[in-house]
Amino acid sequence: MSWRASVITLFPDVFPGPLGASVIGRGLETGAWSLDTHFLRDYAHDKHRTVDDTPAGGGAGMVLKPDILAAAIDDVAPADDPRPKLVMSPRGVPLTQKRVRELASGPGAVVVCGRFEGIDQRVIDARGLEEVSIGDYVLAGGEVAAMVLLEAVVRLLPGVLGAQESHEDESFEAGLLEYPHYTRPQVFEDREIPAVLTSGDHGKVERWRRSQAEALTAARRPDLWAEFKREKP
Ligand code: ADE
Repeated sequence: MSWRASVITLFPDVFPGPLGASVIGRGLETGAWSLDTHFLRDYAHDKHRTVDDTPAGGGAGMVLKPDILAAAIDDVAPADDPRPKLVMSPRGVPLTQKRVRELASGPGAVVVCGRFEGIDQRVIDARGLEEVSIGDYVLAGGEVAAMVLLEAVVRLLPGVLGAQESHEDESFEAGLLEYPHYTRPQVFEDREIPAVLTSGDHGKVERWRRSQAEALTAARRPDLWAEFKREKP
């Protein structure tokens, strides 16, 4: 059984979108992963197919109704479905490469895309939904966020990236941002490739890349740098 993504959304037509391109799309064709989308409105029970209502306590915007979303989740993922159930939300726990790796090592994920002001808290609690954020900014809905999460996971699945692409050197894998890259031409607009990279001394290249990665992380991401120093003092 391949890694299975089930997405619950009000905009099923936007999938697979970018997930149908390049190596991620090829993985879909070759069966390294599968994607099924479920239109939330299909689970509404009135003639207007209503999925939202005004917030209890007043205020702006609309809230996704718990009964409709619960019906969708129960249909897509019955109680014995082992996959984690995620809901994309700016209130969620920030997504990290660590969580991405964990998800990739499991059987798949059920991903709910929010819209409107929010989702009734009772369905989040009752179905044990894990709220996931892709960053500290607000999107119009969870669809693009779901695609970000799925792309990050799927590229780690066996058979998706070619054998020569290793994940070891990537940003975050060692707790550091990645070192800078160069390729020919040797001189570009008066800028040379750093001499160490063409020296042929692999040990020197390794040490240079490491020091570049550390300096970049310290400058750009003091949070990651502090964590790195804590783990490898
Ligand atoms: N939906 C709206 N904004 C979001 C964000 N930052 N992360 C995940 N889902 C979202």
